[in-house]
Amino acid sequence: MIKAAILGYGTVGSGVYNVIKSNSYLVNERAGQEIEIKYVLDLRDFPGDPVESVLTHDFEDIINDDEVKIVIEVMGGINPAFDFTMRCLEEGKNVCTSNKELVAEHGLELMHTARENDVNYFFEASCGGGIPIIRALNDCLTADDIDEITGILNGTTNYILTEMTENGASFSKVLKEAQKMGYAERDPSADIDAHDPARKIAILSSIVFGSSVDYKDIYTEGIRQITAEDIKYATTLGYAIKLLAEAKRTEDGVRAYVAPFLVEPSHPLYAINGVMNAVYVHGNMLGDAVFTGAGAGSLPTASAVVADVIDAARHDGKRAYCGWKHDEKLVLASNDSVKHKYLVRISTEDEGKANRVFSPDGFLDTISVGELEEEIAFITPELSEEDFETKAKAFGKVISRIRFY
Ligand code: HSE
Repeated sequence: MIKAAILGYGTVGSGVYNVIKSNSYLVNERAGQEIEIKYVLDLRDFPGDPVESVLTHDFEDIINDDEVKIVIEVMGGINPAFDFTMRCLEEGKNVCTSNKELVAEHGLELMHTARENDVNYFFEASCGGGIPIIRALNDCLTADDIDEITGILNGTTNYILTEMTENGASFSKVLKEAQKMGYAERDPSADIDAHDPARKIAILSSIVFGSSVDYKDIYTEGIRQITAEDIKYATTLGYAIKLLAEAKRTEDGVRAYVAPFLVEPSHPLYAINGVMNAVYVHGNMLGDAVFTGAGAGSLPTASAVVADVIDAARHDGKRAYCGWKHDEKLVLASNDSVKHKYLVRISTEDEGKANRVFSPDGFLDTISVGELEEEIAFITPELSEEDFETKAKAFGKVISRIRFY
């Protein structure tokens, strides 16, 4: 038998308790021993809830109990999660977490401490909810040199964009629904301003490229500015707008982006809708692979956390391999020379100027959407980020612009 403690009995913590109890036979069999939840830490009381018998309000009960070998940190946020995790690792306890904020911010130090103390720090649920992507990168795609990883890594924004596209629903109404269903972060700006997928692609690229990618170095654009009109143009073109998080190795180094993109129907990420997440990986031997599944929510996330708990039990006393292994930071290459085509919306009266600025050698093909009489859109030729910005500045009155993937 191996004893575990859960830090936090919120959306994910209660899911973890539920998965371990509901699937106890399978979980224990796969762990090779019985997993017993000895403590659940939360400041609140839960009268009548089965968790009452193991509930504690004091972290010291857990850290001072030598029987506890696995700590499940599902509190979220940096404090006190960082301090608790550090202390557990220093005490020789394995830690499993869904806390992407903590992994993205302090993963390097925490993994260093885990290594020093011969224990494991597992964080499968920090990226892609229930999709087994971190284990796939660390344990399955080990024969490949991976040069690209691109994903839809935020369930809330994918749900919002899908509902806006399929049902014409307003941004704010859909956001409220996502919050009610337990998908969204407490602070919705982490989702809609895309800090959450930026953290996730930083974690995944640290594993793929071996050194720490700082999410704050990644160019990040959210979906707050995407309107019903943008969606209408995308639909007219037969494309979907998706918030993509991408990291690619190029001749100049690793480049990363998080931004809304227009995705064509033949691309595997086009059809990923609702709260589903998906991760596209390209390896030099494998070619393409796509992993998809439920990207947020209590039980899908808990499923990934409990898979880590099983792995921690299997690796009791042994270190598991992790591709994120160098104690140094990866300096990202600039995106200035990256080329994309852009969909640009302008006022109808500015068409002549748009031709002069964006297409001096020819005429731009324009796109009109029936009910939007005062405006048109056009697709630029492939332009570098730098060129596009210069032209958009010279033009002056772009209503909106979205990159094609
Ligand atoms: N708010 C996150 C999302 C939760 O919507 O994807 C899962 O990390």
